[in-house]
Amino acid sequence: MDTIIAAEPVAQINKQFFADVINGLNSIPKKLNSKYFYDKQGDKLFQEIMASPEYYLTNCEMEILTQQSADIAASLTQQNTPFDLIELGAGDATKSIHLLQQLIREGVSFNYLPLDISANVIRHLEDHLPNELPKLQIHGFTGDYFDMLDQAVQFSSNRKVVLFMGANIGNMLPIEAKAFCIKLKNSLLRGDMLIIGFDLKKNPKEILAAYNDSEGITKRFNLNLLRRINTELNADFILDDFDHYANYDPRSGACKSYLISLKDQTVKIGSNILHFKKNEYIDMEISQKYSKQEIGELMTDAGFEYVTNFYDTNHYFVDSVWSVK
Ligand code: AVJ
Repeated sequence: MDTIIAAEPVAQINKQFFADVINGLNSIPKKLNSKYFYDKQGDKLFQEIMASPEYYLTNCEMEILTQQSADIAASLTQQNTPFDLIELGAGDATKSIHLLQQLIREGVSFNYLPLDISANVIRHLEDHLPNELPKLQIHGFTGDYFDMLDQAVQFSSNRKVVLFMGANIGNMLPIEAKAFCIKLKNSLLRGDMLIIGFDLKKNPKEILAAYNDSEGITKRFNLNLLRRINTELNADFILDDFDHYANYDPRSGACKSYLISLKDQTVKIGSNILHFKKNEYIDMEISQKYSKQEIGELMTDAGFEYVTNFYDTNHYFVDSVWSVK
């Protein structure tokens, strides 16, 4: 008689996630993609990081948005025509809401088009933002930046203003950031605008501290990806057998996070068996820091023209405004 085998929950396994994890951990050196940090638990840990005393980035950009929204708005409305404000990775919009408020106060005509990988985030924005900003025209898109950007630019024939804040570009290697900016430029038309947030090079100790916080939140943030792989991809990582190591190189501006295997060990992911040597590392994340000059080169090489920069009082962070040439 045939044995009925309970179906494995294969259908529930995110195939892209599985393929990326297996590929990454079979690479030399081993690596994982930091875009997978953000499951429910990872979102919570990132909120904790943003609230930690060492993580200066959020406060700096918040200062820019709360103190300079009128000037930011003015830089966008010199062409006195309606526009679509497309936000890449909108999240909870706690920073961009200050700009939205300002534009609405001034009676500026625009549509707000937030894009996010998380459907929950977009649903939440569409449900809640209109309570706070009753006049806001909002239409969200869920998915990967570029698939969604191509849809979002079709939304209307208005000129476009793209918002890409939070130093999210820092999670790309410089060569990837360059390709990203070129692709972005090619999705836009002459005169369209971009506001893009960069974390600036500064005292190396302050940068390192932001990614090596005393409470160990960043460590848990990194280890959480192993936990996520355990639960979603049926793996058996022992989190205590890995430690977090962060490092900042002032010359290149690369701030990197690694997980270090604390012993020779074997890990199963589904039916895959992976070996880790003692002290072998997994490359987890880059948070690239830029100088003003490097930002200028990146953007002009991609075909953008400088409009203006908005800094916090310490000049730790910049929201940089560009237009398509
Ligand atoms: C969300 C990409 C801006 O790199 O600073 C924070 C993510 N990683 N602490 C960053 C992060 C570790 C963060 N970004």
